[in-house]
Amino acid sequence: MDVGSWLIETRTLIDRWIQEDFPPNASTGGTVEEVMRYSLLAGGKRLRPQLVLASAAYLGHVVEEFKEMALAVEYLHTYSLIHDDLPAMDNDDWRRGSPTAHKQFGEAMAILAGDALLTEAFVKMAGPGLAARFEPSRLVAAIGNFSHAVGRQGLIQGQVKDLAGEGQTLQLQQLAEIHHKKTGALIIACVQMPAMVVGDFVSEARLIEYGSHFGLAFQIVDDILNETGDAAMMGKSTGTDRALGKATYPALLGMDESRRLADYHRIQAKTALGWEPRAELLQGLIDFAVDRQW
Ligand code: IPE
Ligand code: IPE
Ligand code: MG
Ligand code: MG
Repeated sequence: MDVGSWLIETRTLIDRWIQEDFPPNASTGGTVEEVMRYSLLAGGKRLRPQLVLASAAYLGHVVEEFKEMALAVEYLHTYSLIHDDLPAMDNDDWRRGSPTAHKQFGEAMAILAGDALLTEAFVKMAGPGLAARFEPSRLVAAIGNFSHAVGRQGLIQGQVKDLAGEGQTLQLQQLAEIHHKKTGALIIACVQMPAMVVGDFVSEARLIEYGSHFGLAFQIVDDILNETGDAAMMGKSTGTDRALGKATYPALLGMDESRRLADYHRIQAKTALGWEPRAELLQGLIDFAVDRQW
């Protein structure tokens, strides 16, 4: 299958799934659902749910079996963006081509919509859909893995260290740890959880390795685009990392070395999977992530 068409088709499918969960008439009138819907449907590449679906394909499963898991990772991710943009964190005005949730609805509603999206991710994971398809003990293990990835030793710790790193000159190892946690941990969970629920432990080890290089490559490119990208195309402000004194790859290593490192992680991710036909979508996804302009 042509990877470019698959990316477009699955993005449309994921958008439709989200719209079904948040229908327009039930998501208006100053409710928290309105804010959740606003942030979810403002745009977004849908890379994390696509990683879930591509991992499912790698494991020989159809994407529909993983619908709720795909939604869960996008809800979790969108919550993390709403909170990341808050004045107390990165203080950003634009996200996914629209004003950030707190700009549009006020800080209290943005915080609550983030909280609700975080919770909703676990409603999806533990709900009847996945429970009907996968063995309960495997599903519980996957939910545990997901919780750990986005909790105090994963995404949250990465965000804490990202904020603490403002204005500091870090060692490369410390910067890699921030990126691995704030961005990589969720990305690893996206490809690892499908292997956990189907019980394919050989593939799981390869997928963890793939995900960990994907996460670093992805965040290095996010850093690069913050310096050199087109704000209109990305739907968010640029130059903000430098303004906040964030510890980033371009700030530490320069642009050329950062690009080289993103390519290194792309190759490592691809090598982790091997060159089998079933890996085609995951191979295409990392090319998309590293070559992207938004
Ligand atoms: C942005 O993620 C935040 C990071 C972890 C770098 P994406 O670039 O995937 O954002 P959307 O989902 O496409 O808006
Ligand atoms: C976002 O990282 C990481 C999370 C939301 C967990 P950044 O702050 O670097 O991402 P952008 O540039 O705002 O999208
Ligand atoms: Mg941030
Ligand atoms: Mg940010």
